[in-house]
Amino acid sequence: MKTDCRHWTETAEEWIRWARQPGHDAFWHFRATFAEYIGAGDGKSALEIGCGEGRVCRELKKLGFRVTASDVVPAMVEAAREADSADEYVVADAAALPLKSSSFDLVVAYNSLMDIEDMPAAVREAGLLLKPGGTLFISVVHPFRDRGRFTGSEPDSPFMIEGSYYGREKFEAAEEINGLKMHFMGWSMPLEDYAAAIEEAELGITSIREPLPDINEASRFRSWTRIPLFLWMKVRKFCG
Ligand SMILES: C[S@@+](CC[C@H](N)C(=O)[O-])C[C@H]1O[C@@H](n2cnc3c(N)ncnc32)[C@H](O)[C@@H]1O
Repeated sequence: MKTDCRHWTETAEEWIRWARQPGHDAFWHFRATFAEYIGAGDGKSALEIGCGEGRVCRELKKLGFRVTASDVVPAMVEAAREADSADEYVVADAAALPLKSSSFDLVVAYNSLMDIEDMPAAVREAGLLLKPGGTLFISVVHPFRDRGRFTGSEPDSPFMIEGSYYGREKFEAAEEINGLKMHFMGWSMPLEDYAAAIEEAELGITSIREPLPDINEASRFRSWTRIPLFLWMKVRKFCG
């Protein structure tokens, strides 16, 4: 499948501003839990697919990993490089990375699989690049969150799913918060689609988290202490 990266090429500047503003989006409220879940790098090798401007790579570096940052959009990788986010940089589609197979202890797909057109091909490639026994970490917007909405702005407002949870659908959304705009585009799929891609790549899910945001009482993310905003998985490449 030929990747259409027009959306992320056109929105790269928006994304870089959005992602670089401390405290601005959900990332900052899950950062500590992510670090705890991943644990110490101890010099092991990590690859991020769909690195954007590099903030997840910088977290991995802080944890002590040797990090390779990759993204299909050159402007994203350039921004990651300017911020000294990683040790190596690669501009390539996640489904065809010019990297040595079986060479990474950890591959991280942090909120990128739902933006990658051929998600199963990216999971397969991650499996090839992992060392036997290595881990693929996946974070996606929780499949339930994609298909429903809170019916009001109160933290206890009901959450409603209209239509069906099942099926793969393209989503497009524009958000504006504190003067920063971002246009999102990607694919919403049920959990089963991710599980099928993992199974087909002959990898195994070893752990699942539905992490809670680290927030105060006044936070606009308060409702997400009732319904999970993200789904995290650790997926293992079998040995031998
Ligand atoms: C929502 S951003 C996430 C960036 C970063 N992981 C973070 O959490 O800050 C999604 C990223 O996936 C990248 N992306 C989309 N399709 C891709 C593909 N086929 N191969 C590699 N990267 C891709 C986009 O360019 C974008 O940088």
